[in-house]
Amino acid sequence: MAKILFPEGFLWGSATASYQIEGAWDEDGKGLSVWDTFCRIPGKIKDSSSGDIADDHYHRWPQDIDLMKELGLNVYRFSFSWPRIFPEGNGTVNPKGLDFYDRIIDRLLEKGITPFPTLFHWDTPQALEDSGGWANRDTALYFADYAKVLAEKFGDRVKNWITHNEPFVVAIAGYFAGEHAPGKQDPQAAMHSAYHLILSHGLALKALRETLSTDSEIGITLSLSPVHPLTSRNEDIKAARNMDGVFNRLFLDPVFKGSYPEDMVQILGPFFPEIRPEDLKIMSQPVDFLGINYYSRAVYRHDPDFPLVEATQVFPEGNEYSMMWEIYPEGFHEIIKRVWNDYKPAKIIITENGIPVPDGIDFDGRIRDERRIRYVKNHLKQVHRAISDGIPVKGYFHWSFMDNFEWALGYTMRFGLVYVDYSTQQRIIKDSGRWFSQVIQDNGFED
Ligand code: GCO
Repeated sequence: MAKILFPEGFLWGSATASYQIEGAWDEDGKGLSVWDTFCRIPGKIKDSSSGDIADDHYHRWPQDIDLMKELGLNVYRFSFSWPRIFPEGNGTVNPKGLDFYDRIIDRLLEKGITPFPTLFHWDTPQALEDSGGWANRDTALYFADYAKVLAEKFGDRVKNWITHNEPFVVAIAGYFAGEHAPGKQDPQAAMHSAYHLILSHGLALKALRETLSTDSEIGITLSLSPVHPLTSRNEDIKAARNMDGVFNRLFLDPVFKGSYPEDMVQILGPFFPEIRPEDLKIMSQPVDFLGINYYSRAVYRHDPDFPLVEATQVFPEGNEYSMMWEIYPEGFHEIIKRVWNDYKPAKIIITENGIPVPDGIDFDGRIRDERRIRYVKNHLKQVHRAISDGIPVKGYFHWSFMDNFEWALGYTMRFGLVYVDYSTQQRIIKDSGRWFSQVIQDNGFED
């Protein structure tokens, strides 16, 4: 048995997102988000559910923060709901929206938990979507105004900020595949969104820097996956390279290099907005950290029938699978190392990692989610490996703190350290939650 010990000061946390947990979709002056609208379209959500109530965190946050304290989290990642604060996306601020987060932040600090908010985790104000959403450049400008309001209100107490969560998913699932809100299937809108999301990151970063004290740290969270070719044939390698461009480089390059990957511009060219040099400067202002969300790798093969990227995903045999993805812990080390080699972010924080498990309550009221424990353990070992290589990985947030609304899959997936019984809103700490709590206490684990 070897002891896997993390460096002193390593941050241990857990993450959630506003639409996935809060509920209270129309309370206290909140405006509609694209998810409020999208969930009402028949057939869009697997179990026909919505985030109308979700975990009812809007009313149960004191109890939820108590549970975070019980687990011993050092940091808690949550997101602000933009339409709770700006019901119309811009213009008039809703003070009750700000109050909600004000209370949460104060309570977290009281309990010794550092708040680590994300400005945007996919709940675009519907009012802005009505004018094109992220495909419209104005949304990026409004996002900076929203960032400024948050910084002015919370900057005295909040020192860690994440602008965006997974812009890839917003642009591609939302505007190209149509599987997420707003449900568009428009390659041009998708590419314009990808560009405007990163532009808005830069504009918000500027607004935050101007408002926050210099001891504040600001970053962006990207979902990153190594993309492997199915075989070593040239056309498969090319297919994997194209998908690496779409998943990874399309977002990493503008943020860290101030440029767009040439192969992507060529392949996706006609759908791209005009790349303005002054935008690239805004996009690539230095960030204090890169947030990485890692769940799995992706394997692709050449497919001439798939337009532009000429690639199709395949699911190779040989590894274990979860309800959503292949389980591939080595890919975690691979992507961290690659990002470090190619982009040298000042530091890296793992902002999400986790697994859906069909958790059930056992006869004695316990949830024995061995599989989640195994997943987290194997993935933490890869993070530890990266740290041993000398890469500055400074923290790990488990996705998620509690079971919640998994977007188009509704409540059919459970990702939490804490189980939620949606019929009673009862919370039960799973075995993984107890295990993770011990990891935090020991700053590591026996392998
Ligand atoms: C994401 C989001 C989370 C998801 C989680 C599981 O990474 O897609 O940040 O909101 O719930 O990743 O799919």
